[in-house]
Amino acid sequence: MTLNVAVQMDPIEHINIAGDSTFALLLEAQKRGHKLSYYTPDRLALEGRTPVAAVQSLQVRDITGDHFTLGEKARTALSDFDVILLRQDPPFDLAYITTTHMLERIHPETLVVNDPASVRNAPEKILVTEFPELMPPTLITRDPDEIARFRKAQGDVVMKPLYGHGGAAVFRIKAEDQNYGSLIDMFSNVWREPWVVQTFLPAVAKGDKRIILVDGEFAGAVNRVPAPDDLRSNMVRGGQAEAADLTDREAEIIRTIGPTLREKGLLFVGIDVIGGYLTEINVTSPTGIRAIAKTGGPDVARIIWDAIETKRT
Ligand SMILES: Nc1ncnc2c1ncn2[C@@H]1O[C@H](COP(=O)(O)OP(=O)(O)O)[C@@H](O)[C@H]1O
Ligand SMILES: [Mg+2]
Repeated sequence: MTLNVAVQMDPIEHINIAGDSTFALLLEAQKRGHKLSYYTPDRLALEGRTPVAAVQSLQVRDITGDHFTLGEKARTALSDFDVILLRQDPPFDLAYITTTHMLERIHPETLVVNDPASVRNAPEKILVTEFPELMPPTLITRDPDEIARFRKAQGDVVMKPLYGHGGAAVFRIKAEDQNYGSLIDMFSNVWREPWVVQTFLPAVAKGDKRIILVDGEFAGAVNRVPAPDDLRSNMVRGGQAEAADLTDREAEIIRTIGPTLREKGLLFVGIDVIGGYLTEINVTSPTGIRAIAKTGGPDVARIIWDAIETKRT
């Protein structure tokens, strides 16, 4: 079967192919003979109820510095495609949300991965709150009185912006921290969104495990160990990738959330687990495929394309 596939992603010339999950998906699609087209989010347009974009044919190669060839731009109705990979990176802001509204017009006749309405309705740090028994004690608010109450009960906490990503502005605040007041003042000036305030999990020193679920089922995992002088395990912040197996608790987490993800059309999802606690369910543009392959894990790109092809037949 040959599928007509378009990828909506940030400029391909800027990606670091060694760690890019979208690139891994494109390589596998090309290997299977699917026809690839490419456009950036700023080329999307909605005319009437039809989303269109100036797309370019795309060829990919796993060679740094020479990883793609693009054809001429051609204005194309996105409903002409069998599959659209929604792979633009956060920030998850109004521009992103607008994209999901446009793509929603053609899904599921054109299979959008992930389902755009579900992406919009499942911000990574909010979707977890559907599973309170799996997550650490967590409060989402901007109200300093609420935060004071929570800190008193929890002791050391981690504070991070609700729509943050890549480890940006993640703070550990100890019970006696004297910078807390100033941090709150500064945050109120910079962000309009609430904080996520969460019990500090000391197990983070051993790593934050990224587990990929495809259509609600386990596909692969990689552990990310933070640098000794940083709280954050994100690889863009110096976190080190290492091979990882699943613990019984993690298998239980997957069994619990899998059916919900499948129902919502969230085909490619990356969850984060620290010391057996679920902290994030990443659905916008999850990563980890290449790190899992590099540490000797399964070929997640193959599992994802098997799942997409099954849905298209
Ligand atoms: N509750 C917590 N306890 C300990 N460390 C945490 C906690 N929450 C986040 N961290 C650290 O901060 C990193 C980034 O936080 P995360 O919630 O994953 O946000 P982001 O979306 O920015 O990746 C995590 O990988 C982990 O190293
Ligand atoms: Mg994270």
